[in-house]
Amino acid sequence: MKFVLASHNPRKLEELQTILQQLGVEIVLQSQLGIDLEPEETGTTFEENALIKARAVMEASGLPAIADDSGLCSEALNGGPGVYSARYGGPDLNDQQRYQLLLQSMRGQLSRKASFVSVVACAFPNGDVISARGECEGRIGFTPVGEDGFGYDPIFLVPECKKTFAQMTPEEKNAVSHRGKALRAFAGELETYLNGRQAR
Ligand code: IMP
Repeated sequence: MKFVLASHNPRKLEELQTILQQLGVEIVLQSQLGIDLEPEETGTTFEENALIKARAVMEASGLPAIADDSGLCSEALNGGPGVYSARYGGPDLNDQQRYQLLLQSMRGQLSRKASFVSVVACAFPNGDVISARGECEGRIGFTPVGEDGFGYDPIFLVPECKKTFAQMTPEEKNAVSHRGKALRAFAGELETYLNGRQAR
């Protein structure tokens, strides 16, 4: 079965292909099909936004489409920036300005508890939908630490690893990260779905 990934990012494709390869499915990027869609993420949950993206690309391609949505939720900010993580502070900020803004908002807050959340969803042309969620619990640091990664990685500390995401190798991060967990859970959901279809 052929799937399209609702993304333009070849690294996301690689990550997904590695995890789904044992299911024998073919996955292409939306850009490889000439689909130039960036649907507005109008949902208030990660699940809604992942499905908005997956459905839009499924409708444009006629193929089952996989999309993800993720973000950082802090207890002190009532779950924020949450689904707004990519847009926190407005579109003109870069990753570093964005995490500095979050550090400022956290000043004086009693709780530094936070979790990264990722939801991976697939919309099928027959209307079926599957999705999986992964979470990684941690703390928001007081200053950025580490050189690797992207986004909020330097300020997200995973206590059991005693490292921020930005201090981890890709393998270390993948083992504990919200996205790694969501993708592995998604692979299980997809396998169950495909086996169920074969049995019908
Ligand atoms: P999305 O592309 O709408 O899912 O936006 C997710 C946003 O959340 C990204 O732009 C990052 O700011 C943030 N984010 C998600 N996952 C991570 C991660 O693993 N490390 C750091 N930041 C992340």
